[in-house]
Amino acid sequence: MKRLDKYLADFGIGTRKQIKDHIKNGAVTVNGAPALKADMHIDENTDKVVFMGSELVFEKFRYYMLNKPDGVISATKDGRTTTVLNLLGDENTKDLSPVGRLDIDTEGLLIITNDGQLIHRLLSPAHHVDKEYEIHLDHELTDTDIDKLCKGLDIGDVKKDGSPDMTMPASLRLGDNDNEGRPVVYLTLHEGRFHQVKRMMEAVGNKVLYLRRIRMGKVVLDESLDLGEYRRLTDEEISSLLNN
Ligand code: URA
Repeated sequence: MKRLDKYLADFGIGTRKQIKDHIKNGAVTVNGAPALKADMHIDENTDKVVFMGSELVFEKFRYYMLNKPDGVISATKDGRTTTVLNLLGDENTKDLSPVGRLDIDTEGLLIITNDGQLIHRLLSPAHHVDKEYEIHLDHELTDTDIDKLCKGLDIGDVKKDGSPDMTMPASLRLGDNDNEGRPVVYLTLHEGRFHQVKRMMEAVGNKVLYLRRIRMGKVVLDESLDLGEYRRLTDEEISSLLNN
């Protein structure tokens, strides 16, 4: 059982004051009858709650994809900088978190959910889901660079015994040059270390000039989303992540 105003707040319907007003004005019905008391208790599993003509159906887990723009941080809270959750302003973001992080200047696919178990599993080293990045570079990679990037290289991480903690094997394909004539490559990683792509490119003497994530597992960035836009994941996309 849950208080009606709390239940409505979980759907992101408005501030406490707005919710109280909606209830007072008869905008909410419970099992067909106007619910006029904010503190009445409802059973989330059996009561039918309708707000302005639409039934509120309780969803335990919610999954979104965001096309993250430059200048936004992948955190849930920050006093000064816009966070990825600020971009989901129309949703109830209270219990949402991004699945992993992108650097402030990295754009592209970020999955955001309140399914903590999925986040944990997708980021655990045992399951680490594939992540594909589009990378615009300062100059072309040589065959030797490509070989090193794909086989695994030393990016400065150290194991407990003091030996270099080499990156895991990765795969790379070459793209066409971008509009400014800079080489573009696509790199798929099976792990997720801090600033990994930038550090891998630095380790072969190159520099990342632009970085965008385009895929996580089987979930591909929806190119119809402008930077800063988001949408719900489809059932198919959700099950591909749950079964990863
Ligand atoms: N690798 C990076 O260097 N930055 C990111 O944001 C993601 C992967």
